[in-house]
Amino acid sequence: MKKALLFARELVAAAVAEGATVVDATCGNGHDTVFLAELAGAAGRVYAFDIQKEAIVATRERLLQHGLLERVTLLQASHDDSTLWPPAPVSAVMFNLGYLPGGDHSLVTKAASTVAALQIAADRLKPGGVITLVVYTGHPGGLEEYSEVRRFLSCLPQTEFTVLEYRLINQVNNPPLLLAVQRLQAGRP
Ligand SMILES: C[S@@+](CC[C@H](N)C(=O)[O-])C[C@H]1O[C@@H](n2cnc3c(N)ncnc32)[C@H](O)[C@@H]1O
Repeated sequence: MKKALLFARELVAAAVAEGATVVDATCGNGHDTVFLAELAGAAGRVYAFDIQKEAIVATRERLLQHGLLERVTLLQASHDDSTLWPPAPVSAVMFNLGYLPGGDHSLVTKAASTVAALQIAADRLKPGGVITLVVYTGHPGGLEEYSEVRRFLSCLPQTEFTVLEYRLINQVNNPPLLLAVQRLQAGRP
């Protein structure tokens, strides 16, 4: 059975073509940013947000190592600042919630800004495009953020979006779960 992050990447890979505009809403150490930059290709564009300078520096370094820095706009800012987002259509948006691995564990994503960013993402999502959220419930505030995000997503109109929840239910230590949204394409179920 695949882990949440792997499943998220499979969904994103199926939705992103060369030349696409995509967003990494929480770039952290830059692993997803590299993944997105490879998918979007030389003609594509990745917008990568993180509030921590440490994360932007780490992501920049990882992109440089992969020769992908030119495809990425790095933004040291909160992902709920709509003025920094690319215009529609956006093919994919990845969120990896919680804290920066190896960083300050008290600096975590928060329900209010995550939900506000999700609204921006949904408004700009291309038909067939996807939003993925890898969600952690084991740290303080994680369960509350999950509940708020899930409540928001479960209210998205089913005539426009499909929303999925994927989780392994017999594992110790609260493994991450996946929430994913796809904007429907006209004429397709
Ligand atoms: C789990 S880490 C992301 C891991 C990353 N995707 C990777 O591949 O390494 C979560 C990140 O979200 C960032 N973050 C927290 N609140 C944020 C916000 N409002 N806007 C953007 N990033 C935020 C944290 O600084 C942290 O680096």
